[in-house]
Amino acid sequence: MEYTNITYEVTDRIAWVTLNRADKLNTLTNALLFELCDAAFKVQNDPGVGLAIITGAGDKAFSAGADIAELSRCDATSGTVQSRRGQDVFDLIETLWKPVIASVNGYAFGGGCELAMACTLRVASENAVFALPEVKLGLIPGYGGTQRLPKIVGRGRALEYIMTGRRIDAQEALRVGLVNRVVPQKNLREEVEKFAKEILAQAPIAVRYAMEAVNRGIEGSPKEGQMLESTYFGLCFATGDTKEGMRAFVEKRPAKFEGK
Ligand code: COA
Repeated sequence: MEYTNITYEVTDRIAWVTLNRADKLNTLTNALLFELCDAAFKVQNDPGVGLAIITGAGDKAFSAGADIAELSRCDATSGTVQSRRGQDVFDLIETLWKPVIASVNGYAFGGGCELAMACTLRVASENAVFALPEVKLGLIPGYGGTQRLPKIVGRGRALEYIMTGRRIDAQEALRVGLVNRVVPQKNLREEVEKFAKEILAQAPIAVRYAMEAVNRGIEGSPKEGQMLESTYFGLCFATGDTKEGMRAFVEKRPAKFEGK
């Protein structure tokens, strides 16, 4: 698929996916969502990619959300389809068997905030601003925001943010756990890359199983989550990397992981 709304480049096992509509604050048109979906499959299926970073072009926005012009054409039926479309793409990103970091370089509003929340981890520049402002448009978040935000910041805070649509600056986002790190905008790329490499240096299968245990486990009961945890814990022992990791510790040397 040829991309016109995003760019996709791979360096050092990192796939950089950039929302590329800077003049429209990287708003999520349907055409962009289709490309993002294709890119997610590419990340999933390329053995040369260990992790993806999603960011926005320019220095103003990660993404200002769904394209309001497109939304304004929805009726009750197509509105549900529109919401489901966004949900499906973001679910795919959330459940990729590879970590995805949102590198939030400015406004992350509406669908932009929902996209960041679907990522495994979030790094924000100091000028980043988050919001789920849909109530200001007479809408509610429709790309998973009502479900992900409470899991990340707790029900009370999520309701406050969703019911007022108010803006959350980078420091508040850090304080409430909406982002993992805040860095100066001029260092964003290198800091996110450093973060990515910290994860890429670990045993890839163990990282994947840990993500699965957390992400799938959180959906069920604590007992089901623990079942999943012990299953993946056991499965680790079928990998060469687990043997290598423990052997390297005993031999007091850095482990050499092969993802096997
Ligand atoms: N949908 C469609 N177009 C959008 C958009 C959106 N969600 N957000 C921004 N744009 C467009 C603007 O219409 C403008 O286009 P134009 O230059 O052709 O007029 C361009 O992007 C730049 O946006 P602008 O509003 O001029 O930038 P700003 O710096 O003054 O304000 C925001 C930035 C993010 C505060 C403001 O654009 C905004 O509130 N956007 C809507 C966010 C939103 O409600 N998202 C949820 C959608 S469900």
